[in-house]
Amino acid sequence: MGNLRDNPGALLCVVGARPNYMKMAPLLRAFRSNPALPPAVLVHTGQHYDPMLNDRLFADLALPRPDINLGVGSGSHAVQTAEVMRRFEPVVDEHQPSCVVVVGDVNSTLACSLVAAKKGVPVAHVEAGLRSFDRAMPEEINRILTDQLSDLLYTTERSARDNLAREGIPAERVHFAGNVMIDSLLFHKSRAVPAVQTLQAARAGFGAEGYGVVTLHRPSNVDEPEALRESLDILREVSERLPLVCALHPRTVARVDSFGLSHLLNTGRIAVLPPQGYLEMLGLMAWATLVLTDSGGMQEETTALSVPCLTMRENTERPITIEQGTNTLVGRDRALILRLVDEILATGGKRGRTPELWDGRAAERIAAHLARWLATHPMPLHA
Ligand code: UD1
Repeated sequence: MGNLRDNPGALLCVVGARPNYMKMAPLLRAFRSNPALPPAVLVHTGQHYDPMLNDRLFADLALPRPDINLGVGSGSHAVQTAEVMRRFEPVVDEHQPSCVVVVGDVNSTLACSLVAAKKGVPVAHVEAGLRSFDRAMPEEINRILTDQLSDLLYTTERSARDNLAREGIPAERVHFAGNVMIDSLLFHKSRAVPAVQTLQAARAGFGAEGYGVVTLHRPSNVDEPEALRESLDILREVSERLPLVCALHPRTVARVDSFGLSHLLNTGRIAVLPPQGYLEMLGLMAWATLVLTDSGGMQEETTALSVPCLTMRENTERPITIEQGTNTLVGRDRALILRLVDEILATGGKRGRTPELWDGRAAERIAAHLARWLATHPMPLHA
């Protein structure tokens, strides 16, 4: 161990992929406006590089340009994770950070946590302790390992503490802070682009009937031809009851094309859009009759917006959205989905309530806690 440092090193704040940005934006604002914290440096690993998954969202969320871009791009999980690690290590060496702050559960989250932990740099994980108990999801493996490596675990719902306790993580590392993704939602809600505008621009002239919003990109739904065909068949049937707007991830578009399934989306009642900006998506969700998705974040956003959400997965790491919110797990159960769609059309569906501490101030609480923690945990110089 080296000497204690006089000047605390920066907070290295890491983002890699789309769902990270709406979590990091409020954190960065809170860190930079808290004078008790060291300067915050934004590192983008480059996991997502597509302009619609990336630059557009930065602008919408008022996220400053990254100070450092590692430019890793796509690859297998091993290659992508290893490449982030290889490129992040010299950044840690150069900055000697007082803490590495990671959010969510993408490959970049784990890769940067592992580099930091091995160098004795404290790791703060925001959105810790969520578990789907499904290790077939790459994100579940990222969550478990990131939490093991973290010194500070900020959680979004109380069930996370029990998950972490079961994995042997000491309770004093765990802090229930609330949901930074909902900080972003509340901060930007008044600027959401009206859905009618987005639909007009996409020439989707759905009338008074309303519409449903669809996103699908999980490997379990889109990587196998049969699973994807089944998902698209369901969408087609739902669209006979309610027109659908599908904002499709590039991965899904590629699979639809390569499996020769694009005809299934070819109906006047399904509008296929590219990935949307944050403010467009917020508007589309806010005015929707229902949302059909396999996304993690949209389960939470629909709960905060009080819009019924049918989640096309067998499990969720966000149980509070089911217990208190508007979410229902439907997998690819065609009969169940059609029944619930009919019910939503008839009654408006599940209304739910806003979970505890989803109040728009989670990032502020995290900044204040982190400042206190750093003041009482002076950092040794790294090897
Ligand atoms: C990643 C996250 C997932 C998150 C999703 C949101 C992991 C393990 N997964 O999944 O949790 O829900 O982001 O978008 O980190 N691609 C592009 N352009 C890009 C990025 C990717 O076309 O800018 C295509 C490439 O074909 C790539 C594939 O999408 O191989 C998968 O990208 P990757 O970053 O590996 O994971 P996502 O599926 O986007």
